[in-house]
Amino acid sequence: MEKKWWKEGVVYQIYPRSFKDSNGDGIGDLRGIIEKLDYIKELGADIIWLCPIYQSPNCDNGYDISDYRKIMKEFGTEEDFEELLHEMHKRGLKLIMDLVVNHTSDEHEWFVASKSSRENPYRDYYIWRDGKDGNPPNNWGSFFSGSAWKYDEATNQYYLHLFAEKQPDLNWENKKVREEIYDMMRFWLDKGIDGFRMDVINLISKVPGLPDGEKGEGALYGNGFPYTANGPRVHEYLQEMNREVLSKYDIMTVGETPGVDTESAKLYVNSDRNELNMLFQFELMDIDSGWGGKWDVKPWKLSTFKKIMYKWYEGLKEKGWNSLYLNNHDQPRMVSRFGNDKEYRQESAKMLATLLHTWQGTPYIYQGEEIGMTNVRFEDISEYRDIETLNMYNEKIRQGVPVETIMKSIYAKGRDNARTPMQWDASDNAGFTEGTPWIRVNPNYKEINVENALKDRNSVFYYYQKLIKLRKEHEIIVYGDVNLLMEDDENIFAYTRSYNDEKLLVILNFFEKEAEFKLDEGMKFDGAELLISNYEVDNPELKNMILRPYEARVYKIHHGL
Ligand code: NOJ
Repeated sequence: MEKKWWKEGVVYQIYPRSFKDSNGDGIGDLRGIIEKLDYIKELGADIIWLCPIYQSPNCDNGYDISDYRKIMKEFGTEEDFEELLHEMHKRGLKLIMDLVVNHTSDEHEWFVASKSSRENPYRDYYIWRDGKDGNPPNNWGSFFSGSAWKYDEATNQYYLHLFAEKQPDLNWENKKVREEIYDMMRFWLDKGIDGFRMDVINLISKVPGLPDGEKGEGALYGNGFPYTANGPRVHEYLQEMNREVLSKYDIMTVGETPGVDTESAKLYVNSDRNELNMLFQFELMDIDSGWGGKWDVKPWKLSTFKKIMYKWYEGLKEKGWNSLYLNNHDQPRMVSRFGNDKEYRQESAKMLATLLHTWQGTPYIYQGEEIGMTNVRFEDISEYRDIETLNMYNEKIRQGVPVETIMKSIYAKGRDNARTPMQWDASDNAGFTEGTPWIRVNPNYKEINVENALKDRNSVFYYYQKLIKLRKEHEIIVYGDVNLLMEDDENIFAYTRSYNDEKLLVILNFFEKEAEFKLDEGMKFDGAELLISNYEVDNPELKNMILRPYEARVYKIHHGL
């Protein structure tokens, strides 16, 4: 397998709006990030992914860009950016920027021109269509509720927006659009950044004719997803982008790709295809979603969790590469969703971290994960800020769904769970800002914060630090093959890693019940060294081992298995 720095690295994701405010306006900023680079360095991560920092009216917190080459004024200046990049590189940290090119803001100058008349040369930068008998051009719904089309009275046509109304989709069929984007990418790469995380990059090619989507019983809109995800020209575009831009730099790329399975994933990441290095798959994130989609929360099973993880490992092994994440700015906090954010918060946060950092792939840490930050429950909808959450809430209220039912799904899945400010210390607003934060701090900040974590040798923070260090010391953690043990067990997640003559054994109790680890028939070994565990372990004896709540152990095996 080819060795690469982005396979060996650990990514730390920053959501700048909520990370650290340096000027008291209640919004995180670039100078705030600069202040905290030593903290990230101490953790041991070596790649930082910055969510969008470009000029934006912030209808979707920067995922609606009005100028790709300018820094959002709330975040700072071009000089601040140069300094941030310099300070990162000085510390050996690499910078991955968000690339949001499925859509722009409706305030981007291209869209303003495009909207001004049907004849404007920019008209074809976006996807405009005539209506059908006073209705939108097709029945597609937007990801953020409502129709995916917005009517423009002045030119009597509709434009497509798969996300918010203020996020019109770009028309990738137009070669000029592609060239402008490649040019903008070179602008950032020439500044010395180290790669891109590409927002919903598998949605950029739509099926011609934009056919109506299937409409489930009682659904308000048709499902346009089959006509927008993994569309007919997506690989042609990505190969062109790779040829024109990516291949010219030593960078890393990760595509955000909802609706990709292991077969279609290979087309994006197999190294002989010259497209992307990694992608974010959603199969695992959908494990607790019912027929009604993400808000329709259902219980999940460990055996399914393991199958998904293994399927992706197997699917991409050798030629591709996996990215490993259990939360980000769009997902609830992993310790609340897959662990236990009450009495076993620290144990379960460490157990989940053990999985992410000892499986094959590149681990992604989302800000606050390394101190075990949890979901938030605001009483009232007025405390929430996320456009997806608010649009869904309003639509469900109109449909007569009871408030308590809606709030329950927001508590489980709302994106603001991950967007409350980073908890730095026990002072007002968790030390995030001296002003009024743009979104309220999680009330548990007095207990859960960085200052406390750094004082406690047993904290989640130091456990992450140790995991990252182990990754640097043992190539097997990066490159070793994976083999599942106790595959169908509903309590224990166990696997071995093998590389040359080396072997690791990872055993995780996923729940709060004690559980027994049993070696498969015929498996033997002698001599094992415990590399890391989230409990004190006296007896490294491996037979008939009873694991405590959320216990995690990683052994280096001397002989056998
Ligand atoms: C995925 C991003 O991660 C999310 O935050 C955003 O709302 C959508 N793409 C639209 O850009």
